[in-house]
Amino acid sequence: MAINISENGRLFNLHTKNTTYQFKADKYDYLIHTYYGDLIDDTDLYTQLSAVDRGFSGNPYEIGKEDRKYSLDTLPLEYSCFGTGDFRISALKVRENTGNQTVELKYDGYEVKKGLYKIEGLPAVYTDDGTGETLIVKLKDIVNGLSVSLFYGIIEEKDIIVRSAVLTNKGKETLWLEKTASACLDLPFGDYDMLSFYGRHNMERNLSRRKIDHGITAIGSTRGTSSHHYNPFVILAESSATEEFGRCFGLSFVYSGNFLMETEKDQTGLTRVLCGINPEEFSWKLNSEESFYTPQVIMSYSGHGISGLSDNYHRVIVENIIRGKWKNKKCPVLINNWEATYFDFNGEKIEKIAEESAQMGVELFVLDDGWFGKRDNDNCALGDWYPNEKKLGCTLKELGETIISKGMHFGLWFEPEAISEDSDLYRQHPDWALTTPGRKPSVARNQLVLDYSRKDVLEYIIDRMEDILSTVPISYVKWDMNRSICDKYSSLLPADRQGELAHRYVLGLYYVLEKLTQDFPDVLFEGCSGGGGRFDAGMLYYTPQIWCSDNTDAINRLRIQYGTSFGYPPRTMGSHVSASPNHQTGRSTTLRTRAAVAMAGTFGYELDVSILKEEEKQEIKEQIKFLKEHNELLFNGHYYRLTVPEDICCAWEFADRDKNEALVFSVCYRVEGNLLPLHIKPKGLEPDIKYMVSESGWYETEKDKEPLVLSGSAIMNAGITLPVPREDGDVCIIHIKNKNI
Ligand code: DGJ
Repeated sequence: MAINISENGRLFNLHTKNTTYQFKADKYDYLIHTYYGDLIDDTDLYTQLSAVDRGFSGNPYEIGKEDRKYSLDTLPLEYSCFGTGDFRISALKVRENTGNQTVELKYDGYEVKKGLYKIEGLPAVYTDDGTGETLIVKLKDIVNGLSVSLFYGIIEEKDIIVRSAVLTNKGKETLWLEKTASACLDLPFGDYDMLSFYGRHNMERNLSRRKIDHGITAIGSTRGTSSHHYNPFVILAESSATEEFGRCFGLSFVYSGNFLMETEKDQTGLTRVLCGINPEEFSWKLNSEESFYTPQVIMSYSGHGISGLSDNYHRVIVENIIRGKWKNKKCPVLINNWEATYFDFNGEKIEKIAEESAQMGVELFVLDDGWFGKRDNDNCALGDWYPNEKKLGCTLKELGETIISKGMHFGLWFEPEAISEDSDLYRQHPDWALTTPGRKPSVARNQLVLDYSRKDVLEYIIDRMEDILSTVPISYVKWDMNRSICDKYSSLLPADRQGELAHRYVLGLYYVLEKLTQDFPDVLFEGCSGGGGRFDAGMLYYTPQIWCSDNTDAINRLRIQYGTSFGYPPRTMGSHVSASPNHQTGRSTTLRTRAAVAMAGTFGYELDVSILKEEEKQEIKEQIKFLKEHNELLFNGHYYRLTVPEDICCAWEFADRDKNEALVFSVCYRVEGNLLPLHIKPKGLEPDIKYMVSESGWYETEKDKEPLVLSGSAIMNAGITLPVPREDGDVCIIHIKNKNI
């Protein structure tokens, strides 16, 4: 049983395979958090909380006269409220019609349900077979009638607890939700670092690791999307924690819009972390008897370092977030024409690239931006989702059929949330764009954003896309979104509901994605937002892979993919081999370096293959052959980061979960005179098994060299020395295989 509740119904122990999460409704009916960490028994840890009368930390009215040591300002709380004596960052802020903002929640019972809970209209972790358990803890404010249900879904075997809250107005007066975190986690003891992932367009998800000191540390987005700039995933790791050792906690927000993840270390040394919709642009009118559902947070804990925590997230995303046919099926090797042609193409040029790539073994051709309306540059036509037959020289259906006749699948790019001012759609419906009254909107890439809080807009988009998807033989869709959203004002929402727009936008987005993915279950959807501007667990519920970055430079990609791998599995990261010199950085790298890096993602090509030399075409054939031979390992293997990408080389590994095989990749950033040995320690092997260790790949290295035979324990503990790299960016691939298989 994952959920243990004491006989009096007040002490809650949530056990997973390796972790315990505990909280208690105390004798005053406040919900107090007592423990999260390695698995323990049901011992009541409330006794371990320190009780000291701390000046300027007041006491609840009925308690203070007798016990000045009891303060909501110093206790670890399960869901903190604003205005009633807890002066730290709060999970909940509610405004009443009177203007009053204080809110106080008291324990009001619980319920346990089989299976994981669902959240209407929002993505949520699920299990295929209905396993999992849900605990619902009820809290209420007896003055304003607000009822809060805290949901905890547990996947025992994976050390996962998913959390969210439902807020219901059971009073008579309207309430205004001003801040509604999905989860609050108070860690009463210990020193932690916060690991977060910051970036910019073309350089997403760089790792930042900083000490959580007294004060507030926060990351978030008000861009309407989760953003390139901060990813909605954080790790709190003990200051001494490394990849392999130490305690760490993760929070991954299953949401694709404005978010806020805040931490505060308080006067007692307690660390609080909150995760939820960003209150900055949020105010939700909650009428009597209405409910509001917060998005979900995936929480996990590992007592064995960051690597273990990453694997918990990789597994839950692959098995419990990604849905449908593509959950267990690898994306075919694709070619995308964007960096090959940009807008400068016609049907003939497309066919030529398709023809050449089909001969090399590429399986899917993706036609990117520029196939519709008058879209010959990025200033116009977004919203006019009608094929430009003049440019294509045929109908889109005919083009799709031609590509299919070459033995490939056909995929298509859309940017369904955008509208150009210079478009027929805008000329007909200027009010469909988000703009604020009396002001000129801010433009980005010369485009505006459709008001996804409007039903008519959603219906138009569904109608246009369904029309194309049902008449053209399409098996892949790239769903792009190329700007941050500001001017968040809807011409349909009343003034007192404008604060709902940012969240209603995301609900609209999820509505369209749900409809399309249900109506076209065979189509593989890839998410994209100017590369990786919306790389989050919410999007992965609909799009099993996301274009990781518009930066296709193999060397920069090492850092981008490394950062992304902390919270997301490699198989979700769209990654392509592009031209050299690279279009974003001007750097030249070999075809083998580019391919090795792209193999740590979905793998595809994005260059004009029709102008490649014969030996390059041959190499591509061999790359695809190599990929196919190792498909299973690269798709489902346990992924390990072996070095940080700041060292001389960046190394990573895919190890088969049965421990029979592994592939280690290493890219040397820069060679140096008198280079020191490159030495790494692969992981995930069986200590007593003898393995053959050999250099591998599709290119000639020291292939004829006899493989070394080493035990798993020698490989993992003593490590292996890599061959000396010959040039900057040189790749080495080591194949490790059980000698007896
Ligand atoms: C941004 C995407 O990230 C690119 O891959 C490409 O699809 C362009 N948009 C097209 O406009």
